[in-house]
Amino acid sequence: MQLEGKVAIVTGAARGLGRAYAEALASEGAAVVVADINDCAETVAPIEAAGGRVVASVLDVSDSDSCAAMAALAAQTFGRIDILINNAALYAGLRGARFENLDEHQWDQVMQVNIKGTWLTTRAVVGCMRESGDGGSIINIASLAAVFGLPYGLDYVASKAAVIGMTRGMARELGPDHIRVNAVAPSAVMTEGTAEFFGEKFEKAKAVIATNQLIPRNLETADLTGTIIYLASDASRFVTGQTHMVDGGSWFL
Ligand SMILES: NC(=O)c1ccc[n+]([C@@H]2O[C@H](COP(=O)([O-])OP(=O)(O)OC[C@H]3O[C@@H](n4cnc5c(N)ncnc54)[C@H](O)[C@@H]3O)[C@@H](O)[C@H]2O)c1
Repeated sequence: MQLEGKVAIVTGAARGLGRAYAEALASEGAAVVVADINDCAETVAPIEAAGGRVVASVLDVSDSDSCAAMAALAAQTFGRIDILINNAALYAGLRGARFENLDEHQWDQVMQVNIKGTWLTTRAVVGCMRESGDGGSIINIASLAAVFGLPYGLDYVASKAAVIGMTRGMARELGPDHIRVNAVAPSAVMTEGTAEFFGEKFEKAKAVIATNQLIPRNLETADLTGTIIYLASDASRFVTGQTHMVDGGSWFL
């Protein structure tokens, strides 16, 4: 078990990738705080059934009080915080359009959740990470969309490009505290969120995506958890500020 004795927080853990990350971290021995604006019961149940330690937190990443409450719950319940996965984002359900036709309210919401939320959650946990003296690992979920420049989703693209920039800036500020900050940038993963994102074009999008990768198949949730465990664990103890593309070879940074 690579994460025995560690405490991890996963935001956006009510479903999709966040749920998969939480289950993977717990299976490696971490105690896990699963945090989401929606109910995390379906994430908690399998972790508990497998004998893992887990607590759910109702969290709005765009609200600083909510982030502080989540960090306090983690510290009170498990005594420390070692790992934060900044996974919550507005993605599924976003209405794509040419950039000049994007909805202004949606634009603001995406910036609030995907960018400000990453700042607020990280800000809420770093004090506890510093106190332990053991450092920590923060993993920000970016996207291939940011480096490719996915058309018809400029709000999402801008927000995930910001996540990459924030990863670099935070890594520089937190390195002296032995807190590592890395980003993971997946291509389209076959989640319920991606099905909602592409709507009726889902099957066509799957085929196009698979053919444009060096490894010609679609990215499944289980393809990502290894990179998450690696970055969360001491196996990556000298790796910080990096963006890790998990995209079957779509893009070389
Ligand atoms: N699925 C993909 O293909 C893909 C590809 C690249 C990157 N990503 C990124 O991976 C992450 C997860 O993707 P997914 O497919 O599981 O997405 P999803 O939309 O299914 O899940 C996102 C989760 O975030 C939660 N959330 C939304 N707003 C929140 C808020 N204000 N506070 C707390 N929680 C909030 C939602 O309730 C949901 O549970 C996102 O950051 C997404 O941008 C996904």
